[in-house]
Amino acid sequence: MTNHVTALYFSPTLTTKKVVTTIAKGIAERLHVSYSEVDITTPAQREGKLVFDEGDLVVFGAPVYIGRMPNLISPYFKTITGGGALGVPVAVYGNRAYDDGLIELRDIMEEDGFRLVGAAAFVGEHTFSRILGGGRPDGEDLDVAERFACEIAQKVLLSGVDAAGRVEVPGTPYPYSGFYKATDKSKKSVDIRKVVPQTDLTKCDGCGLCAKMCAMGAIDFTDCSQVVGKCIKCGACIKRCPRGAKYFDDPQYLSHLALLEEKFTSPRREPELFFPLK
Ligand SMILES: Cc1cc2nc3c(=O)[nH]c(=O)nc-3n(C[C@H](O)[C@H](O)[C@H](O)COP(=O)(O)O)c2cc1C
Ligand code: SF4
Ligand code: SF4
Repeated sequence: MTNHVTALYFSPTLTTKKVVTTIAKGIAERLHVSYSEVDITTPAQREGKLVFDEGDLVVFGAPVYIGRMPNLISPYFKTITGGGALGVPVAVYGNRAYDDGLIELRDIMEEDGFRLVGAAAFVGEHTFSRILGGGRPDGEDLDVAERFACEIAQKVLLSGVDAAGRVEVPGTPYPYSGFYKATDKSKKSVDIRKVVPQTDLTKCDGCGLCAKMCAMGAIDFTDCSQVVGKCIKCGACIKRCPRGAKYFDDPQYLSHLALLEEKFTSPRREPELFFPLK
């Protein structure tokens, strides 16, 4: 029987955290069980091994990167032991598309040993932009998250572990369909793998927060203007620097962003909820 609900998330710019915690708290409240949060955004937070068991229900969320789960982080997702816990995969994407992101997270959770009682795709403000999915998840999204929590809790209250089953979600099954191809406005493919954020030293006060928050531990703690590790463009340092000192100036990155904003700011995409087939 479920006696604890966990919100588990990788969330550099906090949109996934918002969605996942709303769902998980909502389920815990309705089941009248305890609740906790596990943040696995930074390397320090990913040091331990996560082990769940049959008493747990875990809502696990991560952002979609190039139509998949973040490829340098998902190996960690595969080390988690589900142990028969109930699970809910949640993919959060920036109003373009989630492509194979949700199906991949579903598969990872099943392989980890979770029994799935639902799955969802939600929209969060795009990491690269303030207008693409701007301000999301918003009130409407969080209302849907509450409704989703209510439905899952009802199913678990009614059927216990029998609420779990195969959850069909959109996407190309394993080995998936490959990564989305980023292009610039002239449809030339862009490669932003080597791009790193710049630092406006007239704004930066050396507080060190960006180095602490970096999803890859890539920023030098002794000189935060230096990226010494691999940058995955997670946006934590840019969007969460209290002084707005970090920015990207790479022309290919900016051209790709302009195209994304032009093509995908509207229409607004809505959350999608999935439940086991019965
Ligand atoms: C490298 C990278 C690739 C991304 N690729 C996609 C994508 O393929 N489709 C999409 O709609 N959003 C994409 N996004 C946007 C994020 O999925 C979205 O903004 C998400 O809400 C970020 O979650 P977070 O706030 O928890 O970090 C991408 C973001 C990054 C950093
Ligand atoms: S978080 Fe911002 S102000 Fe603080 S060290 Fe990093 S760039 Fe500088
Ligand atoms: S340096 Fe790159 S990986 Fe690190 S927080 Fe900034 S955008 Fe994310």
